[in-house]
Amino acid sequence: MADIEKKPIGITETVLRDAHQSLIATRMPTELMLPIIETMDQVGYHSVECWGGATFDASLRFLKEDPWERLRKLRAGFKHTKLQMLLRGQNILGYSHYPDDVVEYFVQKSIQNGIDIIRIFDCLNDMRNLETSIKACKKEGGHAQVALVYTLGDAYTLDYWMNICKEIESMGADSICIKDMSGLLLPYDADKLIRAMKSATNLPIQLHTHYTSGLASMTYLKAVEAGVDVIDCAISPFSMGTAQPATEVMVETFKGTPYDTGYDQKILGKIADHFRPYREECIKSGLLDPKVMGVNIKTLIYQVPGGMLSNMVSQLKEQNASDKYDAVLEEVPNVRKDFGEPPLVTPSSQIVGTQAVMNVLMGERYKVASGQTKDLLSGKYGKTIKPFNPEVQKKVIGDAEVITCRPADLLEPGLAKFEEEVKPYKQQDEDTLSYALFPQVATDFFKYRQAQQDKVDVTAADTANGAYPV
Ligand code: CO
Repeated sequence: MADIEKKPIGITETVLRDAHQSLIATRMPTELMLPIIETMDQVGYHSVECWGGATFDASLRFLKEDPWERLRKLRAGFKHTKLQMLLRGQNILGYSHYPDDVVEYFVQKSIQNGIDIIRIFDCLNDMRNLETSIKACKKEGGHAQVALVYTLGDAYTLDYWMNICKEIESMGADSICIKDMSGLLLPYDADKLIRAMKSATNLPIQLHTHYTSGLASMTYLKAVEAGVDVIDCAISPFSMGTAQPATEVMVETFKGTPYDTGYDQKILGKIADHFRPYREECIKSGLLDPKVMGVNIKTLIYQVPGGMLSNMVSQLKEQNASDKYDAVLEEVPNVRKDFGEPPLVTPSSQIVGTQAVMNVLMGERYKVASGQTKDLLSGKYGKTIKPFNPEVQKKVIGDAEVITCRPADLLEPGLAKFEEEVKPYKQQDEDTLSYALFPQVATDFFKYRQAQQDKVDVTAADTANGAYPV
């Protein structure tokens, strides 16, 4: 490889976001992160992904933590490392479209509280749904990374990926990520894809994949040789399975090659030592299910993300129809085709999965359609790569109007209303955004927070009065 010029690759460490979202349902608490971030800060990572995705919802709902507070604490500890988050474009961190003013305010506050890089994606790869987030990110001085959701299908040709790279470049993004949430990108296809994208754009290209199907480290090897700039990895105790390849392994793989990261294995070892006991604890408590640690070949065959599979399984169980699992799996590609062949990622994965379950259980396709199916077929999520099946569309929405503009263009500004509603609970500007995204969950959290504060006040006052022995 002497003729290849030196080109060290970067690594985004995912242990604080995607790795625990994928392996332990996003339950890692902030207190487990804080003791190790000073060490993580010494590695020289390209970035640390630590916020967004499901972490926001899970913090409020299950951990009773303020996600904004978490971000500020991480920011205070990471003095040299760029912090990265995942944003669902116009869906922010929720499941439907928000008005532009809410998206802009969310991006502004994310960056103000410490985020450097925002990875933005849309479940249909409809770039119009990313316009507002990209603009807001640039305005606040952030790095706007557009993530293309990777999927398969005859419409997704190399030309498609190359053209969309050019579109992203013209939108003012700083880098491009291929987001392969199901682990579908085969090693030799990665080689072709990265080379094609590199020929279409000068923007740095990052690759994000999951080990679910057992391919990920081979895919990274081929992608790096093809010129990818950054790969997403997780420190070994939270790597593999439904998460990313192990950071230490990829660092060692490229040692002494032109792609050498230069990271110190001793420091990585300390980080692994920190997370290993927690992994053991999670296995013992059942939070980490050994099932997600193996190779799931179904995801490769059916091309659906692991989370979608488990959702369909539980929906069928609820209906006492577990025997319909194979029929539902076969129905998924049919529904996807009717819906214009979208990628399967939140929220399109849920929409397609739920509709497939309904179609099978009702014994007649589209006899019943979910509200989200109706919205999708009305254009309310944006444009799919292929047209919808007109017969299915007619059956589901009848003569209802179909929109073709950017969906958020039809939304009235929403911030003022949220400000008004959150007033009784508001302790910081960011509370408005927590409320806008998850009204019920945030309200419950605000009440919990108030109760905790009252408790502390009462204890402090009583102690001062000598009511309790100190
Ligand atoms: Co991921």
